[in-house]
Amino acid sequence: DNSNLALTPPMGFNTWNTFQTNIDEQMLCEMVDTYVSSGMRDAGYKYFVLDDGWMSMDRDSTGNLVADPKKFPSGMKAFADYVHSKGMKFGIYNCAGTKTCAGYPGTRGNEYQDARLYASWGVDYFKYDWCNTDSLNAREAYITMSNALKATGRPIVFSLCEWGNHQPWLWGKGVGQLWRTTGDICNQFDKDKVIGTWTAQSVLTILDKQDKIRQYSGPGHWNDPDMLEVGNGMSVAEDRAHFTMWCMLAAPLMAGNDLRKMSAQTHDILTNKEVIALDQDSMGIQGFKQLTMDGVEVWVKPLSGGDVAVAFLNRSGQTQAITYVWAEHNIKDAISKVDVDFTKTQYKVRDLWLKKDVGTTKGMYKQSIPSHDVLVVRLHALNQ
Ligand code: GLA
Repeated sequence: DNSNLALTPPMGFNTWNTFQTNIDEQMLCEMVDTYVSSGMRDAGYKYFVLDDGWMSMDRDSTGNLVADPKKFPSGMKAFADYVHSKGMKFGIYNCAGTKTCAGYPGTRGNEYQDARLYASWGVDYFKYDWCNTDSLNAREAYITMSNALKATGRPIVFSLCEWGNHQPWLWGKGVGQLWRTTGDICNQFDKDKVIGTWTAQSVLTILDKQDKIRQYSGPGHWNDPDMLEVGNGMSVAEDRAHFTMWCMLAAPLMAGNDLRKMSAQTHDILTNKEVIALDQDSMGIQGFKQLTMDGVEVWVKPLSGGDVAVAFLNRSGQTQAITYVWAEHNIKDAISKVDVDFTKTQYKVRDLWLKKDVGTTKGMYKQSIPSHDVLVVRLHALNQ
């Protein structure tokens, strides 16, 4: 079985958020090169995933899918080999319906044949979407594809992209390693975006839908609040807040920006190892909202070794001054069994964006947080 895949949330890059179907071999090879030279790979990003738009409009005479020869003149196997030669893993996309969301040939009825083709190309990660599925049963459709992938004998991370309508968190464990919990994200922090007949969701809209399903996430089976919009047009504060909160959620971290044009700030956000470490913590506990005060939400994520991450998210339109008396906010969590009593145990407080130790939990934490920005600290118990 594939139960030992993705023991921490998958990290990688996906073409969709920036390029949609406008992808081609040359551009993608540049992206792969940048992935390495920019330090993304060394920061932990591993998968390079082609989303919708890689195919020709027709299957070949044997029923196999075909990589669009104009976009991939060297063929998909050659591209997969290139990705692997740079020390990364390769991912690809299709859809459970008759057609993909962008209108390319879907998988329905060809699950085993397609899985064999992907395995022959060296695919390591497969995202499976939910457009044009008519009355298909979601759970059954995803189980069929899961079985087809397993039958290839190649370990392939299976990413369920069903948008949460059929509550994949209730049945996705063992079927795949991650499942989308919502519709598509957009590059806006607090306002959804109407796009024709559907609405893309803001960072905060998606964040608000994660809290109730946190018990279903864990090593090898992750809630997926969709891919990152860091570097895609939000402010630096908003990008930092989005990235921090996805790490607090133990979310899959799939960068979705043009790595070739990334600003220094975008780079520093995406590669902050101490923040990534919250996401990749081996306990795999999804963080939760502890309380709200003056437009600032306080989120907590229990970590291995007794450490705890605490994030202060300013959702409001203005700067907020906070005074947080640790001893008034002990942490109790039924899911992780974490029980922190600040009156009994003292913790060292480290600010993960400043990358500095900023005191202990003996006193209070006094800070000012700009609008749509975040502070995140890691608490580490001091020897008594
Ligand atoms: C859906 C998915 C997106 C993306 C597109 C591709 O909208 O949710 O993540 O894969 O399809 O067409």
